[in-house]
Amino acid sequence: MEQFNKLKEHYENVGKNINMRKEFESSDGVNRFKDFSKEIVISKEVGTILLDYSKNRITKETMGLLLDLARSSKVEEMRNAMFQGEKINITEDRAVLHTALRNRDPSAVIKVDGENVIPSVRKVLDKMRSFSERVRSGEWKGYTGKTITDVVNIGIGGSDLGPVMVTQALKNYANDKVMRAHFVSNIDGTHLAETVKHLCPETTLFIVASKTFTTQETITNAQSARSWFLEKIGGSSINAEKQKHAIGQHFVALSTNEQEVTKFGILKENMFEFWDWVGGRYSVWSAIGLSVALYVGMDHFESFLEGAYHMDQHFINTPLESNLPVIMGLLGVWYNNFFGCQTQAILPYDQYLSRFPAYFQQGDMESNGKSVQRNGEHVTHSTGPIIWGEPGTNGQHAFYQLIHQGQKIIPCDFIASVESHNPLGKHHQILLSNFFAQTEALMKGKNQQEVTNELTKEGLSQEKIKQLLPHKVFEGNRPTNSIFLNKLTPHSLGALIALYEHKIFVQGIIWNINSFDQWGVELGKQLAKSILPELSDKNQISSHDSSTNGLINFYKSNSKL
Ligand code: F6P
Repeated sequence: MEQFNKLKEHYENVGKNINMRKEFESSDGVNRFKDFSKEIVISKEVGTILLDYSKNRITKETMGLLLDLARSSKVEEMRNAMFQGEKINITEDRAVLHTALRNRDPSAVIKVDGENVIPSVRKVLDKMRSFSERVRSGEWKGYTGKTITDVVNIGIGGSDLGPVMVTQALKNYANDKVMRAHFVSNIDGTHLAETVKHLCPETTLFIVASKTFTTQETITNAQSARSWFLEKIGGSSINAEKQKHAIGQHFVALSTNEQEVTKFGILKENMFEFWDWVGGRYSVWSAIGLSVALYVGMDHFESFLEGAYHMDQHFINTPLESNLPVIMGLLGVWYNNFFGCQTQAILPYDQYLSRFPAYFQQGDMESNGKSVQRNGEHVTHSTGPIIWGEPGTNGQHAFYQLIHQGQKIIPCDFIASVESHNPLGKHHQILLSNFFAQTEALMKGKNQQEVTNELTKEGLSQEKIKQLLPHKVFEGNRPTNSIFLNKLTPHSLGALIALYEHKIFVQGIIWNINSFDQWGVELGKQLAKSILPELSDKNQISSHDSSTNGLINFYKSNSKL
């Protein structure tokens, strides 16, 4: 594409030689923050989000060319198509409408196959409100008449990561005396066993969360949870009618598949519906958020939706050059496709956001980990990056060494809030001083002269200085984005997640891939299903490659089959 070639040329002539420190120290440097940052009031409730992208290897020309790339890739047209319910998920013939789940416009009309989806969305939200309020207030009783105190969400992937991350992020808005939230995802029996170990069946509510209701891990975990529950309440000593009543009070489902839900034994009225136009990794805004609503209350859950809605409005209505998801998406393309960066770190300086990087590992890597273009042709350019990260300052004492002095360029997103929910002594200022210091250090580095001066001041001999010098020099020029919120609230969290979702969308459009399917996870699932029956007896097998046969036969010989 012409715009790609122009950027390639710009990279060769300018981009790869940009030295950020020199740019900041030049006569124009004082304006660099003003030129390359956006302070946007997303809404009164969300407040301001500051995106500082001045510590990137860019010039105004770079940004101009990247914005041209976005325009020529039809980012705006595809964005509008997504919001209007067009079936942009072409391999599954589905609309992509997680944005409809959080649309707060009372008169909104969004049609899929000629039908307005908004009334169904609002109906499920009402049902979530009435259910969560009944449970939280104690009106909904367990089978022995006790109030529910613990909720266990059983799901995996998008039916787990969102609720886990959001409940963790909004912990400050919850009251453990009203409700505690637990999550079981892994098929490893340890996950369920360790979770239910200290729970009382009389006061525990299980939420079986699965879009398809056929996912092996979730269904197996749900069956085992049901067995645990029935056994605890008296097993075969209680009659079928009583069992049915008890299951009705303690098991609900979140799914698109009513048939499988009722087959499992969950009552239709205890099912919270969503639709095939909600992708798994975009489903936290749907009924999949029920555990969040139970944990923090429906008002906070709706504020969370509202925050995302405001970011949606920003994404739709703001010119590309001031559009936060577009800017972040383009910077990612710049590093991915021109500098050859393989990974992108997400580093929240906020303990509440400790699962945010893990959440966007799925959000980004399942969306943009593709090698085929929308037209079926193989891509000739690099697509989705590897996403990783941990909260600051923990990461500083673990992997930042490589970011500072390793050979790989790792673009990093730093996320922090001005205000802490826990203003304990000087903790927050120390946290923020580390955030500011890291982005400065990554940009600036430390040159030979600075190291020499420092070591001379410490009184080291010339010989020692010569020996240490190469080890102590920091090249700098490491790119970072800084995202600053006023405070982490349900509103701002919703907006922050939507910001990243739309960033991923922008990149998917530029790479011309379908960000909304996930065929790549199927092969492993299929093979696991065919291997499972082979593990039930001692007979050695030879139906696979020698490595797989070797592993399976080692298990068979050594297990207590
Ligand atoms: O791992 C693939 C995947 O389909 C994800 O996209 C999805 O979030 C997860 O499995 C769980 O699927 P379900 O909600 O249907 O159980």
